[in-house]
Amino acid sequence: MAKVTLIPGDGIGPEVAEATRRAVDAVDAGIEWDVHEAGAPAIESYGTPLPDHVLESIKTNKVALKGPVTTPVGTGFRSINVALRQELDLYASVRPCRLYAGVPSRFEALDIVVVRENTEDLYEGIEFERGSKELAKLRGYLNYVHGFPIAKDAGVSVKPISITATRDIVCFAFDYAKEHRRRKVTLGHKANIMRFSDGLWLETAEKLAEDYRDVGFEAIQVDELAMWLAWHPQELDVIVLSNLYGDIISDLCAGLVGGLGVAPGMNLGHEYAVFEPTHGSAPDIAGQQMANPIAMILSAVLMLRHLGQPADADRLERAVAGVLAEGKHRTADLRPAGPPAKTDEVTDAIVAQLDAG
Ligand code: NAI
Repeated sequence: MAKVTLIPGDGIGPEVAEATRRAVDAVDAGIEWDVHEAGAPAIESYGTPLPDHVLESIKTNKVALKGPVTTPVGTGFRSINVALRQELDLYASVRPCRLYAGVPSRFEALDIVVVRENTEDLYEGIEFERGSKELAKLRGYLNYVHGFPIAKDAGVSVKPISITATRDIVCFAFDYAKEHRRRKVTLGHKANIMRFSDGLWLETAEKLAEDYRDVGFEAIQVDELAMWLAWHPQELDVIVLSNLYGDIISDLCAGLVGGLGVAPGMNLGHEYAVFEPTHGSAPDIAGQQMANPIAMILSAVLMLRHLGQPADADRLERAVAGVLAEGKHRTADLRPAGPPAKTDEVTDAIVAQLDAG
């Protein structure tokens, strides 16, 4: 029996987490849930969105299934999503984007995996506020040393890209492609403009690609990648991107296969793994039984595979695919022909498929 930390989160989190727990329990996968509050309910109970015992539980169990958590604005608390990635060194974000039959889309068959570097780039938080003393010093220094002009009314964010983090994520993408028998890895970059950050990213990846000759490799500019995704997404297979491009392109890919309601994800490190849907806490629909639980249930499918339970994962995925193909129980985001189904009704339909099969 595997013990997994379950973090319901806030907003629609508790609704989709409960749905996922029911679906996984119906598979009889032998998961013991170690439930911990984070986000808004934890602020109420413990005065912090990420109490120490949540991290301790993940460190003990090694695996967590997490609902979305609202990023508090203007409260002094940092994003718990960023904190978890940093504390657990979850350097790889993986978002499989697969089009299931019955899901409305402009395309017929799609199966793309976006691998995103999770620790550096413009998301590292190295920022200088417009008008600050620190920025005035930086402006003076850059002007003195390099003659770089920065406008007086500018704010500045810094983009570090290291060989170490690039190696980790590019090797991860190639290893993932090999293990999952994928055709090729496409690396996105903008090396022609950012020569010392994206240039280093590209150069490091090209060298590593020589060690993975059994997997196809191509490097293309990220703007061209966006064009291909809109035009012929079937051409793409595994895509590896630095943090910011990965954030944008993975949402684009989620949109190609039915939107955030069906887009699962996982954050992996060398030791720990956190599985969570791509979507956020959706405060606009929270508590109304309108949330699509499928993104989080598919995240649990990824978790079961990670736990070495492929038969359980396949059963759960088949049940989800069955309900999507049938098309009778669809939440509003999937544009049903008739009245939208509630979160619990979609879950009931998935559990019924599992009980029947
Ligand atoms: P969001 O993903 O919560 O919502 C965007 C739109 O998609 C909304 O219209 C929402 O109703 C819809 N939507 C999202 N999930 C859905 C589902 N399962 N079923 C049906 N419709 C769904 O993004 P937003 O509004 O930008 O962020 C809300 C909060 O969530 C913010 O505080 C943000 O920081 C946080 N967030 C947390 C994440 C996490 O915990 N991993 C990830 C992304 C955002």
